[in-house]
Amino acid sequence: MSSTTTEATESGHRSDTAVSGSAACRLLPAVPTALLIAGEWRETRARGVTSSLEVENPATSEVLATVVDAAPDDATDAVDAASAAFTSWARTSPRQRGELLRAAFELLTDRTEDFAAIITAEMGKPLAESRAEVRYGAEFLRWYSEEAVRATGTARTAPDGSSFHVTMRQPVGPSLLITPWNFPLAMATRKIAPALAAGCTVVLKPAEETPLTALLFCALLTEVGLPPGVVNVLTTSRPGQVVSRILDDPRIRKLSFTGSTQVGRVLLEASAKGILRTSMELGGNAPFLVFHDADLAAAVDGAVIAKLRNGGQSCVAANRFIVDRRIMGEFSAALTEKMHAQVVGPGCDPATTLGPMINVRQRDRAAALVDSAISDGAEPLLFDPVEPGSAFLSPVVLSDVKPGSSIAGQEIFAPVAAIYPFDSEEEAFRLASDTDAGLVGFAYSTDAARLSRAATSLECGMVGLNRGLVSDASAPFGGVKHSGLGREGSEAGLQEYLETKYVSYPI
Ligand code: SIN
Repeated sequence: MSSTTTEATESGHRSDTAVSGSAACRLLPAVPTALLIAGEWRETRARGVTSSLEVENPATSEVLATVVDAAPDDATDAVDAASAAFTSWARTSPRQRGELLRAAFELLTDRTEDFAAIITAEMGKPLAESRAEVRYGAEFLRWYSEEAVRATGTARTAPDGSSFHVTMRQPVGPSLLITPWNFPLAMATRKIAPALAAGCTVVLKPAEETPLTALLFCALLTEVGLPPGVVNVLTTSRPGQVVSRILDDPRIRKLSFTGSTQVGRVLLEASAKGILRTSMELGGNAPFLVFHDADLAAAVDGAVIAKLRNGGQSCVAANRFIVDRRIMGEFSAALTEKMHAQVVGPGCDPATTLGPMINVRQRDRAAALVDSAISDGAEPLLFDPVEPGSAFLSPVVLSDVKPGSSIAGQEIFAPVAAIYPFDSEEEAFRLASDTDAGLVGFAYSTDAARLSRAATSLECGMVGLNRGLVSDASAPFGGVKHSGLGREGSEAGLQEYLETKYVSYPI
C-alpha cells in the first residue's frame, strides 16, 4: 500500500498525489485543492472555521486530498467575480467562445488518462468507465463549441402590417451550477459548456464527494485561456449555507441542478424568491420493458448496460425490469449469469468491471432496500452477503418483486436488478408509468408497432427502443413529472442559458 503524499503549492495545486491501496493504481495528476474565484486559486475567507473537506477513495476509505472548504462569504466573492466578468464575456464573439470550448475539448481529450484516474480515485467507477465518461464529457465541449454560433433569432412582419418584430437571444446572466458525484466530469461539462457558449458566467458547486475532477477541469479551462471570473468553483462541506447565499443574491439569474428530486424541490422553492430560470435534472425510476417477442440476447445485453453503467448509480439506470411472464424465467436466468460474471473490485484494477459504491451509507441503503423487497416476497436469484463497513455491493438480482415494495417506488442507485412480471401489454405500460418519476424508459421487442406504442405510452422525457443507453451530448436529456424541468445537451441545452428579447419597430 502506498501512502498519499501531497504538498500544497502557491497555485493551490497538489504537487504529488498517489492513490493508496493497490499497486495497479497509477499516480494521479497534480490537482488543485483551492477555490477558484476571479481567476485566483485561493483559501477560504472564513475566519475561525475549523471544518475541512476531505475527499475519500470509496474503494479504500483513504483520504485522497483535503480541499478548501468554502463558506458563505466565499460564495459572495464568487458571485462578485461572475457578475463582474459577465458583461465582457457576454460581448465576446460567439466564434471566440466556441473556439475556447473547442480548445478545451482537445486538451481534455489529450488528458483522458489523467482525468480517468481522478474520476476513478474519487468516485470509484472502473477505469474503462471513467475513460468513457471523459469521452462523454468532452463531447459536450465539442457540441457546444459548434452550437455557440447558432443562437439564432427570428424576424417577422406583424400580421396587421404595422410593425416589424425581431427576436434576439441573449445570455440569461451569471448562473449557479450544482453537479452530482456520479458523473463528476460529464455533469460539469454538460452545464458549463452551454452556459459559456451562450455567454453566461458561472459559479460551479461540485458534489462534496467528488470535487477533484471539477477542480482539475476548471484548471484546464484556465489553461486554454478562459478569462478570470467566467468560471468560479466553490468546494464546500456546507452546501446548504453556501447555495442559499448564492440564491439570495439578485445578481444570480439562473440555477442548473442535477441531483435528487427531494433536493431539487428545496432548490426550486429557494429559486422562487429571485424568480430564477431553473433547469432541474432530478431522480428517475426507469422501467425496462421486455416483451415476449424481444430478441432475448439483445435484451439481456441492454439490461446489463442499463443496470450496471456506473454501478447502477445513475438517474437513467434501469430501476424496474418489467418482463412478460412467459419469458421471465429465461430472461432472469440469463441476466443473473451476466450479473454474476462481474468482477467486483477497486476501479483502478484493470480487471474490475464493477467498482465500489460511492460510500458505505449508500451501499447500506441499497442493501436495506434489497432486504425489504425479499421480506415482501421477492425471490433473490443473486445476493451475496454484505460485508459490514465496506462500500462494495456485489450485483443483486431479485425476481418476482412485488410492485408495492419500497424498492419499486424509489431510485435504487445500486447494482440491484429488480424484476416484475406482466401479463399484457396494457399492464406493462400501466406498471411502467406507476411512478412520480419520468426520466427515461426502455423497451425491447421485435414488433415495430409495439415499440411505437411504447414510445408513445411511456410517461418520460427519453425512451430507448432496443437499446439500454440513451445518453448523448447531441440529444435532449431530461425528464417529465418529478424528474425535472428543462433539457441538457443538444440545441435545447443552449436555450436553457438564453433569454428571448423581442424588438418592435414601425414599418
Ligand atoms: C445522471 O445520472 O445524472 C446522468 C447520467 C447520464 O448523463 O447518462
